[in-house]
Amino acid sequence: MLRIGLLGCGRIGQVHAKSIAHIDGAEVSAVADAFADPAQALAAQTGAQVLEPLELIESASVDAVVIGTPTDTHFDLIHAAAAAGKAIFCEKPVDMSADRIRICMEAVKQAHVPFLTAFNRRFDPNFANVQSRIANGEIGAVEIVTIQSRDPSPPPVSYIKSSGGLFRDMMIHDLDMARFLLGEEPVSVYAVGAALVDPAIGAAGDVDTAAVTLTTASGKICQISNSRRASYGHDQRIEVHGAGGMLRAENMLENTVEVATAEGFRAAPAQHFFLERYSEAYRREMAHFVAAVRDGTAISPTIEDGLKAQVLADAAAESLAKGAPVLLT
Ligand SMILES: NC(=O)c1ccc[n+]([C@@H]2O[C@H](COP(=O)([O-])OP(=O)(O)OC[C@H]3O[C@@H](n4cnc5c(N)ncnc54)[C@H](O)[C@@H]3O)[C@@H](O)[C@H]2O)c1
Repeated sequence: MLRIGLLGCGRIGQVHAKSIAHIDGAEVSAVADAFADPAQALAAQTGAQVLEPLELIESASVDAVVIGTPTDTHFDLIHAAAAAGKAIFCEKPVDMSADRIRICMEAVKQAHVPFLTAFNRRFDPNFANVQSRIANGEIGAVEIVTIQSRDPSPPPVSYIKSSGGLFRDMMIHDLDMARFLLGEEPVSVYAVGAALVDPAIGAAGDVDTAAVTLTTASGKICQISNSRRASYGHDQRIEVHGAGGMLRAENMLENTVEVATAEGFRAAPAQHFFLERYSEAYRREMAHFVAAVRDGTAISPTIEDGLKAQVLADAAAESLAKGAPVLLT
């Protein structure tokens, strides 16, 4: 039985608790939060004991930790968990600074503990299918990847200020997906963006609408389109064009019923947001972590993947500020 301690009992902590409940051979043995209420609520649901965060990390009844706390707390928790020799499942982004992620990487390496960066979209059955079909050569060499990724509505401005902004908090998922599908590291990043959805987001120094073009050394291209607004739900589409064909993963709709009248065809909205859209991906992600820790097999995405996506997010922010492409050496 892999005994897991959950750090952070908010939105994503609750998702991971549900996933663990569905996995044979894993249990939530302890939970911790900065506040008593969320911890008590999740303890009541899972049967876990409530501990203080550092007490949980050091507890003899915890084999692995899930870090689902706000991003600015990850650094200290990663260090404490690595020092305690615990396997680590860490929410994205690992940290808001690439240099601090490098320091975490060193601590994880020194401690020889398993580490997963929670880029859950790699575990989405459709996106994983696209990647494995690329790897099987079904469309030949990849030439251009197009990622459309739009949230249904913007978060509060307070969140924008503390989350690192669109590139480091939201697009980071798409930047990881770009690396996953291109199969080559981007060497240049060009970003454009604006605050078209909410002027308060612009006043806070961020954008809510952005497009980024990545290119690799061999000339492969990826275009990412992000918006904090989509009136029809969580818009998540991917297309990969290769020398011998094209792979496309469409939106997941609330249902598959279509109505046709004299006015035309109508389908349901896209599944509302990440909790619904990626529910299966979260379950598969946790199942991969549990199996890998238990069996001692390789874990992916790694902390290096967390760092590489962060470097791309930093380059996108720099490119937007400069109004020019940023070259990565
Ligand atoms: N992979 C995804 O799809 C996804 C989705 C949402 C959030 N996230 C990431 O998960 C993390 C948490 O986001 P959220 O939306 O669940 O936030 P949240 O605010 O809903 O929950 C965070 C919880 O952590 C608690 N907390 C704060 N500091 C703590 C500390 N030092 N020790 C223990 N508990 C602490 C808070 O009280 C809160 O209950 C962020 O890094 C975010 O980027 C990832």
